Amino acid sequence: MILLESPAAMSEWAAREKAAGKTLGFVPTMGALHRGHEALIQRAAELSDSVVVSIFVNRLQFNVAADFDKYPRPIEHDLEICQRLGVSAVYAPSNDSMYPHDFDTVVSPGELAKPMEGSARPGHFIGMATVVAKLFNATRADVAIFGEKDYQQLAIVRSMVADLNMSVEIVGYPTVRESDGLALSSRNQRLSSTHRLAASSIPTALKAAREEFELGERNSKVLIEMVDTIIRQEDSARIDYVEIADARSLQSVVDINQECVLAVAVFFGDVRLIDNIVLKP
Ligand code: PAJ
Repeated sequence: MILLESPAAMSEWAAREKAAGKTLGFVPTMGALHRGHEALIQRAAELSDSVVVSIFVNRLQFNVAADFDKYPRPIEHDLEICQRLGVSAVYAPSNDSMYPHDFDTVVSPGELAKPMEGSARPGHFIGMATVVAKLFNATRADVAIFGEKDYQQLAIVRSMVADLNMSVEIVGYPTVRESDGLALSSRNQRLSSTHRLAASSIPTALKAAREEFELGERNSKVLIEMVDTIIRQEDSARIDYVEIADARSLQSVVDINQECVLAVAVFFGDVRLIDNIVLKP
């Protein structure tokens, strides 16, 4: 496994792999790797000859400086995981090599970036799309795997790739969960033990909404209130949003007659967790 620490080093290595006829599978991450990331890496290995994992905590997509500062960075442990999974290259560029002082160009996604995470975290998706475009260019990936846990992110990346004619195939991967249903996240390790327990109200609420939906409830307001009420039973939970939106346009939906996503963002202390489920009538 090789460690590449600048866009130039990454591109050179990728060019050599390509010249040798290899296809490149890519998993972009911000590190603090968990079983969710591992599943994406395994999927990439099934779909390509060589796997590249990027580990880069992208300052540009953090709208809260403290969240960036507190983001876990267990690089040695991450490298061990990549090694164990047979990753060919870890791309961990320095901040300066990614954003030199004269850096001046961003990718600005449109309508898909406005609701939910976009309105809760201004600028987040500009930072995300910009770094993902940079990562695609440097890694020359043929296929890239993204988690459905970040549903809106995946939708924006697909749209960016289509709109900007990028030659990378985007593959989604289902959310990997703990035994109580909590979606794995690098931020979970920052939860206190009380907050960790309270956080299981998120999957409990999503499950209840799904059951109600399967029993025939099609009114978004009713399902949203149900999720809201269940999560609020935890005193420590502070709900950022609960939304039901069209699965493709991400526009809010009143009556669910098409495929929709039910998405939530909830704070426990200063840790913000997101999750979602897809509702198919
Ligand atoms: P990060 O949060 O590290 O997530 C990296 C990838 O892992 C994303 O595609 C995310 O959706 C996926 N992932 C996270 N938790 C998951 C889970 N429980 N199950 C399945 N997949 C999961 O998302 C980012 O980093 C950044 O925005 C990035 C794309 C790297 C750009 O900086």
